[in-house]
Amino acid sequence: MTIYLGFSCSQHDPSIAVVGEDGDVVFAEANERALKYKRGWHAPPDAIGLIEPILDRYVNGEQVSANLTWSKTALRSSSYLAHVSRYTLGALELMRPSNEEARLWREWIFRHALYRAPTSASNLLLNLDMRLRERNGFRYRLRKQAWNHHLCHAATACYASPYVEALCVVMDGMGEGSSTSVFSFRNGKLERLDSRGIANLASLGIFYSQICFAAGFDPIAGEEWKLMGLAAYGKLDEEL
Ligand SMILES: [Fe+2]
Repeated sequence: MTIYLGFSCSQHDPSIAVVGEDGDVVFAEANERALKYKRGWHAPPDAIGLIEPILDRYVNGEQVSANLTWSKTALRSSSYLAHVSRYTLGALELMRPSNEEARLWREWIFRHALYRAPTSASNLLLNLDMRLRERNGFRYRLRKQAWNHHLCHAATACYASPYVEALCVVMDGMGEGSSTSVFSFRNGKLERLDSRGIANLASLGIFYSQICFAAGFDPIAGEEWKLMGLAAYGKLDEEL
């Protein structure tokens, strides 16, 4: 029997799900509840001490499949991204913005570079294979699978939907090569329709973050959701 562990490891909002062989979700939780840390920036999704009670309860077969929310290519580039962010931070420290608008822009970029700066482990898990063997003996077999980030978003939306057939559009802050992806969903299968742009950095998600920042909220602290919630109580400002 195989048990499937899903780890959201997007460097923020880590979470874990356990899915049985028949496809039923038997456990799912965002780590923020246990960590008491809302966004969980750079916290590993399999933090030591955090997932042991979950493994105790649900993992008792011989085969474990661990699934990650970034593909191998993206995982390989995460430490490279961290270096680029650190260089960006160095350059931004030297910048002296000439006006208020430039100052806000600099502050915005600075904060984004700052949260990318920590180096991430190559597979974003903490030796899960060794920990499983130590707990349960060497008969355990762990298979790690790394999935395209937007395919994970699309799967979450489509498999939880009542639709047999759908067009699925993922509009993210970031992705792998592009922040937006389009899929067709048919007979339980997802097929990507758009081509993967190498440097398509236009991002509706980051634009929303900027609006959040300009409105006086902190997107890094997760206040985009606050802004989204409060928007329903506001009035349309035509001039804005
Ligand atoms: Fe995402």
